[in-house]
Amino acid sequence: MSVLTGKELRIVGFLCNWCSYGGADTAGVARFTQPTDLRIIRVPCSGRVNPLFPLKALLSGADGVLVSGCHPRDCHYSEGNFYARRRLEVLKEFLPIVGIDPRRFEYTWVSASEGQRWQQVVTAFTDRIHKLGPAPRFEDARPIYDLPALTPAAPLRPLGCGTSPALAELKDQIKAALEAKEVEFVMGWQIGHDPLHTTPLFMRTPEDVDKLVWGPLNVHSLATFLPQHKGKKVGIVVKGCDSRGVVELLQENLIKREDVVIFGMGCNGTVDVNKVLAKLGDPSCIEAVQGGGATLKVTADGQTVDLPMFEIAQDKCRACTVPNAVIHDHFAGSPTKIPDDATPEPAAIMNFLDGLSLEERMGFWRGQIERCIRCYACRNACPMCVCRDHCVADSREPHWLTQEDSPTQKMFFQLIHALHLAGRCTGCGECNRACPMGIPVGALKMQIGRTVKKLFEYAPGMDENAVPPLLGFELEEKNIHEHHIEGA
Ligand code: FES
Repeated sequence: MSVLTGKELRIVGFLCNWCSYGGADTAGVARFTQPTDLRIIRVPCSGRVNPLFPLKALLSGADGVLVSGCHPRDCHYSEGNFYARRRLEVLKEFLPIVGIDPRRFEYTWVSASEGQRWQQVVTAFTDRIHKLGPAPRFEDARPIYDLPALTPAAPLRPLGCGTSPALAELKDQIKAALEAKEVEFVMGWQIGHDPLHTTPLFMRTPEDVDKLVWGPLNVHSLATFLPQHKGKKVGIVVKGCDSRGVVELLQENLIKREDVVIFGMGCNGTVDVNKVLAKLGDPSCIEAVQGGGATLKVTADGQTVDLPMFEIAQDKCRACTVPNAVIHDHFAGSPTKIPDDATPEPAAIMNFLDGLSLEERMGFWRGQIERCIRCYACRNACPMCVCRDHCVADSREPHWLTQEDSPTQKMFFQLIHALHLAGRCTGCGECNRACPMGIPVGALKMQIGRTVKKLFEYAPGMDENAVPPLLGFELEEKNIHEHHIEGA
């Protein structure tokens, strides 16, 4: 058998204590011949296998990773392998986006009595890995530093730059809520350090409310601040994408519905400030910004330029199907309409990545991530990154990441972030917007979003009563099928 004669490769196996580890033991006791490449890590149950375990092994130099647990319905803890099946399938679908061949990762089921099956599984998987050869190392990938100019997707609806005529109505609603002491404060946006930037506004008095603005510059998702104020009665102004973050926080019981008063308005798209600055040639002083119709008029360094919204909109707004708050207590103005027959085009970055080979994708991320300065702005801007105080990026126990300035460590953080958002990311694009180095980290979350949609037909942040897919399972999964290891 080829695997027994060639040079050993590094294969890591995570085996459930009760079944597969027993199966491996049975194979050993029966003296079944097996390849010696596999290094076994015994876990209490396949449900204990966090997808980060195989991912870390693969990024750290393993050529293959095999997870094996009890057969479905045989789990010692009755349900662990059902949860594992969902998580591990998400991982398998996710790996290609970073250039890792999904055939290098497999999960299967072997019982304690199936010594012979264990022998076949481990032999077939080892054979597969030998055919694939040693895994390419992330550090050694040929870096692609430049992102080519991508043609943005056509917007689903006309994107606008004007200030909303419903702003006065919104301000009246907020003033009334503050006056009635319905809330301690309401979060919105105000003009920031220059007319092109807005900044979060915490309104406690009617004078504060007068500073509120609504328009294409209201880019931040204020839902990020909600968990910090758990237990207080607070108000929040939301766009459609922000409201999905609020729904997700409610689903995860990180805030209480009765504590939050939601003010919604229809959104006509938001501006990518970096695109504006690039078009203006990085001016030193922005003097005035005025929106009207589909054009943003910007005066900078003494010159006035008309910028069509089509060219400066955030990419996420082009395919947005949820411009109106999905949950609200007050709604000002009329909802933004999307034509019934409109179909969202894939984001340009996803089209680009889909067109690359696995090797090129690894090189792409290798080149892009080199710019990362580990500021964690992507994490801090993410409404769903709620364990910030105990983030794996800062934790020494468990020690998932080192502070080493290496592409692998930086990439691993981004992959952890993306996997933590599986079934939770609402596609608000805040990670992309916040990255000061222009790394398209949002593409990793888009891949997770695509995977979750494909496997579970689920879109996060749409229904506060829905159970997120990785917190549940089906005995028979509609879109997950048993993997066959060829030869086993
Ligand atoms: Fe074996 Fe749960 S105990 S998979």
